[in-house]
Amino acid sequence: MAKIDPWGTQLIGDYSRLIKDFGLEPMQDFLSFFPEPNNLMKRELVFAGQGLKELSETMKEKKPFYCLTGIMPSSERIHFGTKSVIEMVKYFQQNNARTFVLVADLESAATRGISLNEARERAMNFYIPAYIALGLNPKKTVFYFQSENQQAKNLAYQFSQKITLNEFRSIYGNIHPSRILSALAQAGDILFPQLEERMPGVIPVGIDQSPHIRLARDIVRRTKKEFNFFLPSATYHKFVPSLGGDSKMSKSNPDSFVSIPEEPKEAGKKMKKALTGGRPTIEEQKKLGGFPEKCMVFEMYKQHLIEDSKKLQDIFDDCKKGKLLCGQDKENACGLMIKFQEDFMKKLGKAKKTRNHWKFIK
Ligand code: TRP
Repeated sequence: MAKIDPWGTQLIGDYSRLIKDFGLEPMQDFLSFFPEPNNLMKRELVFAGQGLKELSETMKEKKPFYCLTGIMPSSERIHFGTKSVIEMVKYFQQNNARTFVLVADLESAATRGISLNEARERAMNFYIPAYIALGLNPKKTVFYFQSENQQAKNLAYQFSQKITLNEFRSIYGNIHPSRILSALAQAGDILFPQLEERMPGVIPVGIDQSPHIRLARDIVRRTKKEFNFFLPSATYHKFVPSLGGDSKMSKSNPDSFVSIPEEPKEAGKKMKKALTGGRPTIEEQKKLGGFPEKCMVFEMYKQHLIEDSKKLQDIFDDCKKGKLLCGQDKENACGLMIKFQEDFMKKLGKAKKTRNHWKFIK
């Protein structure tokens, strides 16, 4: 059975196995039920979920629901995987989800020793504006700090009664007091919006966070009498592969991934060093075509850099036909990456100026 550790760094290659092992719902089967699915859903980068039927019906019937995500304030950079999560939040927000974004300052204190003040500074100066720069609408979002949300914290304590250490071990593998506290805090986050208004909710996460969803769903089943919450739905994102094509993005190899933000030219250069699906010689490639399905540059286009699906298809076809060679394609990717980073910095500057509109709850 596949193992998922929300605090680990492993990467999963076989997503269909994961769907089977964990009983997830493939996004493919539900795509036609969602109103105007976005590219992440259509391209199966959001490859699965839980509670998708209930969620899509709620959206279709325009009934109230919420979407919630958490910021882990670990360093003043985010990776491209987070960008995709924000895009899903944006999708739900545009479909009228009540939107909550929390700063996981308690979790970062517990699991990484980051002080509450440091977490606050980073959230205010970087993460919240970065989320806005990536598409979150600040006027329609409710923010909070875990350390300040009394309701969510109270839930965490109440939930602690509902789970045994052995269950914890089977969901998370390794356990430590900091992880237990963080997992319960997260379950509190995921469910507290329903205290105000009982309604379905969705939590878009990287697949690494799926144990937290499982825990929250277990807790809902066990607190039916006390709380009668809706089971939270989730959408699961694939990992962003490293530019080198190996399964792990390694912090010790800065060329293996691009951060947001990153100095634009440096980020562009990394695209030129990425693993492509080219043939050993230009002649061969012209004759036989390349392998876009194995190309990390193409993967970056598909996941992040090219919205226009026709353009994406043309690149795929031209590569297959041997018309588009890796050198030229890398130039193109480099340009798109530079533009992305420059745009982001511009939007970040603008987002910082919206600070007066951010609504925090306690
Ligand atoms: N554990 C999440 C992370 O590491 C942060 C988080 C805390 C979160 N509470 C949450 C994410 C609730 C989603 C929903 O990034």
